[in-house]
Amino acid sequence: MEDLKYIELLKPIVKIKYKKPFAMVKTYGCQQNVSDGEKLKGMLENMGYELTDDKEKADFIIFNTCAIREHAQDRVFGNVGALKNLKRKKPDLIIALCGCMMEQEHVAEKIKSSFPFVNLLFGTYSLHRFPKLLYEVLTNDRRVFERGVEDYFIAENLPVHRDSKFKAWLPIMYGCNNFCSYCVVPYVRGRERSRQYKDVINEAYDLINKGYKEITLLGQNVNSYGKDLKGNINFAKLLSAIDEIQGDYIIRFMTSHPKDITYELIDTIANSKHISNHLHLPFQSGNDRILKEMNRHYNREKYLEIVNYAKSKIPNLSLTSDVIVGFPGETYEEFKDTISLIEEVRYSSLFTFIFSPRENTPAAKMDDPVTHEQKVEWFDELLLTQQRISGEICKDFEGKTVKALVESKAKKQGFLVARTPENILVEFKGDERLIGNFQNLYIDKAKNWVLLGKLI
Ligand code: SAH
Ligand code: SF4
Ligand code: F3S
Repeated sequence: MEDLKYIELLKPIVKIKYKKPFAMVKTYGCQQNVSDGEKLKGMLENMGYELTDDKEKADFIIFNTCAIREHAQDRVFGNVGALKNLKRKKPDLIIALCGCMMEQEHVAEKIKSSFPFVNLLFGTYSLHRFPKLLYEVLTNDRRVFERGVEDYFIAENLPVHRDSKFKAWLPIMYGCNNFCSYCVVPYVRGRERSRQYKDVINEAYDLINKGYKEITLLGQNVNSYGKDLKGNINFAKLLSAIDEIQGDYIIRFMTSHPKDITYELIDTIANSKHISNHLHLPFQSGNDRILKEMNRHYNREKYLEIVNYAKSKIPNLSLTSDVIVGFPGETYEEFKDTISLIEEVRYSSLFTFIFSPRENTPAAKMDDPVTHEQKVEWFDELLLTQQRISGEICKDFEGKTVKALVESKAKKQGFLVARTPENILVEFKGDERLIGNFQNLYIDKAKNWVLLGKLI
């Protein structure tokens, strides 16, 4: 690819300038961003940089940013501001910003005017053009800003540095067409576009052959995979094709939008060899009026119908979800519908958020009379409900045996952490050489939301 030839051109330039160059990539936000961050790292390594997490050591620092909530954005501004002194001490340091936040005009303008020590800024559409943009910075000694081009493009074959040797992210599509009224993603990641079926299958095949044990397929709405491709392809068919690949591995995916999930998909999971019995199916609110205001295109009844079908087909199904508390105009009674939905579905865990207004989204313009303090009270009520349910679900594992992927060392000396297919963590005593392998574990006890087990 034309843009990638700049990696070769940069090699000698970087070497002469820094002798032993170090680069730091800091990623905020969702798995999609983490996956993009792994590509930035891959490109940097190919340019001759060594990767580091130490900003004092780095000659190149890039923040791969997230715009989903105000808080995420504030953290980035704070951390960028803190680099000012570092740049003063080390004038050859290159500071770059990329990712979702940078696709917003007002953010890019603020960086341009208030953070003059930032050398390079580009948005999500320009990821593959990073080598060319860095080349411009290093050869012309000027600031480079690029946003909002080539919305429909998918760059294949970017080098990638995977953070884990046994868990891999596999993006199957980019962008989002849904325009939920609170959400910034469609504005910063552009329209939905699917990777070619054969590209996804080849990458999955390659990962499994390299010994990866867990593959997570990524997209903002994986259920609409293939709608923009030729032929009779959909997400369920993609999943079953990957499931056919021989090997000892587990497939996960996220995120499923309830409006597009199909019975075919649920049947595919139920009949598969490798797909986990965990479904992340964000409902956002349990109240039909709020769901309509959110522009989610399903109602409570339809959501429960699909959940009940999934529960009936997939043994030991584990459900998780995202929820927003305090959407503009939500009343306490409407919020109570969210609580009752949680009680009815019984999620193993939840990602819970207080509504955060995002510039230029319809929800940001809606009346929002409930105070932040009240929303925090509702939020705490929701957490208590969920903690009780998570605890009860974990309790059901006592005395059972699970096959879990060992991920890391636990805080407690001599203990390890593994993840069950249901996406629940187990702590057990074991040798760290077990990390990266599946192990059968007997669950002795549930301690709140973690299982305590032992090797068998
Ligand atoms: N595509 C995924 C969600 C990606 S964003 C889906 O549709 O399910 C992850 C979560 O962040 C969302 O599910 C939502 O719960 C939350 N979120 C998004 N925008 C938000 C906002 N403005 N305020 C609070 N939470 C928000
Ligand atoms: Fe945002 Fe909705 Fe798209 Fe998810 S589906 S990324 S919540 S607009
Ligand atoms: Fe954030 Fe962008 Fe993901 S806004 S949540 S990093 S798609």
